[in-house]
This record gives sequence, C-alpha cells and structure tokens, in this order.
Amino acid sequence: MLLFGGSGQLGTEIRRRWSDVQIVAPSSSEVNIEDADAVARALDAASPDLVVNCAAFHNVDRCEVEPERAFAVNALAVDRIAALCDERGCAFMTISTDYVFDGETNRPYVESDAPHPISVYGTSKLAGELLVLRRRSRTFVVRTCGVYGIRASSSKGHTFIDRVLAKAAAGEEIRIVDDVIASPTYAGHLAQALQQIARSGSYGLYHACAAGPVSWYDFAAEALRQHGVEYPLTAIHGAEWKAGARRPAFSALESQKLHALGIDIPPWQQGIHDYLRDRVVFA
Ligand SMILES: NC(=O)c1ccc[n+]([C@@H]2O[C@H](COP(=O)([O-])OP(=O)(O)OC[C@H]3O[C@@H](n4cnc5c(N)ncnc54)[C@H](OP(=O)(O)O)[C@@H]3O)[C@@H](O)[C@H]2O)c1
Repeated sequence: MLLFGGSGQLGTEIRRRWSDVQIVAPSSSEVNIEDADAVARALDAASPDLVVNCAAFHNVDRCEVEPERAFAVNALAVDRIAALCDERGCAFMTISTDYVFDGETNRPYVESDAPHPISVYGTSKLAGELLVLRRRSRTFVVRTCGVYGIRASSSKGHTFIDRVLAKAAAGEEIRIVDDVIASPTYAGHLAQALQQIARSGSYGLYHACAAGPVSWYDFAAEALRQHGVEYPLTAIHGAEWKAGARRPAFSALESQKLHALGIDIPPWQQGIHDYLRDRVVFA
C-alpha cells in the first residue's frame, strides 16, 4: 500500500494498525501530492495494490484566505492521484470531511444527503470527492469528522482533548461551544475501520465516524471526567467562537453504509477512553 499523509494523525494510526500490510509512506518533502511527476514516480516505485491519501490542506481558516492552494491540494491533486491509480489498475482511498455539509439539520447526515459546503475548505474537499467519484473506478471516498490522534496534526497542533486537559492543569478558564454538534473520531478507531472498508472491496462513498452525535462542551466534560479531573467549563454559543471560516453548527455523520457492511466504529466515549490509554502507551 502507498500512503500519502503518513506522518499525520490518521496516517500515523494507519501505519501502526495495518500491521499485516506492507506500507510505503513517503514524507511530504519526498512526495508533494501537488507534484504529479513525483506521485507517478512513487506509484511506479511501490507498485501498490492500494493507494491511501490522508494528505490535505485542512486548516479551515487558512483555506479561506488561500483558496487556490485549498483547491490545488484537496481537489486537483486528489483527482490526479485517482487518474494515476486508474492507469495502473490499483485501488484508491481518499479521506473527506463533514464540512461538505452546511449544518442546517438536527440529525446526523447520511451518505445520501445532499452536500452544501459553507467554507472554502468544505467546497475544495467536495470538489475532490466529485472529481474522484466521477471516474466510477476502484475508489473509496471516506468522510470523517473531528479526527484526533496521538500524533499531533502538523496543521492544527495539539488535539482538542489535550488543549482542554492542559488548560485545566494550568487553572485557565475553559470556554467551549455547547451548540456545535459533531462526531469526534479517534484516529486509531478510524484507521481500523478504513482497513475493513478497503478489504470489503465495496467501492464508493462512506461516512466513518464515532457513533453518536455530541456537543464539543459535552465531549470536553467527558474527557475531563475520564481523566479524573473535576473542573468547571464555561459554555459559549457558536456565534461567540471567533474564527475566519464559517463552520456547520451540526455536522455529526451517521456511518450508515459502514453498518450495512457490518463495520462498527466505537462510540465517542470509547474513543476518548482509548485515546487517553494509547497516548500513554505510545508516547
Ligand atoms: N483532523 C480533522 O479533524 C479532520 C476532520 C475531517 C476530515 N479530516 C480529513 O482527514 C484526513 C487526515 O487528516 P489528519 O487530521 O490526519 O491530518 P494531519 O494530521 O494534519 O496530517 C496531514 C498530512 O498530510 C500531509 N500533507 C499535507 N499537504 C501535503 C502535500 N501537499 N503533499 C504531501 N503531503 C501533504 C502532511 O505532511 P506534513 O506534516 O509533512 O506537512 C501530513 O502528513 C484529511 O484528508 C482531512 O481533510 C480531518
């Protein structure tokens, strides 16, 4: 398997957990996915059965002011990888996002819901999805949400859980939105589900998230509780959360097609539990 984005939160867990798969994972300085020749050379050298793309430009606020780069990385580069995979007859899996939706709902989105992104990031990722899926080839497009892993994201830094625990340890006020709902997903659980999806051979669009929608406020409270810390949180409204890009207020995803394949991702509470355990084990 050839993996792009292997140094990120999700890529790190794929390398750790797909232990029976031979994985070639060039760094971004070895293969920039925007460089079609470099991608083609990597494919020819590895001759993989499957290419997994976890590389993305996913700093949501920076995408808003760098739209050309967002589309170059999240759409055009992804389409080129898909084309190169097609030419060589290998399967392709790429990761997308809950931000393809506008959040104007009160129930988790399923795969058949119409996307309507409200940010440059979400629009660029949707463009990547559509370009790849139009090929009708051996491709998996997997949308996920609120990914957190042991290896910090190079573009976003420490995880939400780590920031909450650090603020509590420092005695700082913790202000968290209680009206923004998502499906925060532990990268370790997601990596395992992705391998099962790849093995299913059932190509197409999937949602793959921790079960159960939760507000970021309740998620932070549960992380503190599981860490054995009693600490007050200040609930704020999404409107008070100052950010460069608009974000959906409700972007929980239902992994409906995954369930149909008999693949389950544990609930978000179990994600926190396993993350807190694994960050000690793998630190
Ligand atoms: N994090 C979330 O909350 C979230 C939510 C929904 C969907 N997703 C999607 O899930 C996927 C994985 O996210 P993640 O959290 O694991 O990201 P991450 O930790 O930030 O890792 C991103 C990876 O992509 C690499 N990369 C970035 N630009 C590249 C380029 N032009 N060429 C080659 N490699 C490049 C980075 O390498 P360097 O570190 O060397 O730059 C890094 O290995 C992405 O598709 C993202 O859009 C994430």
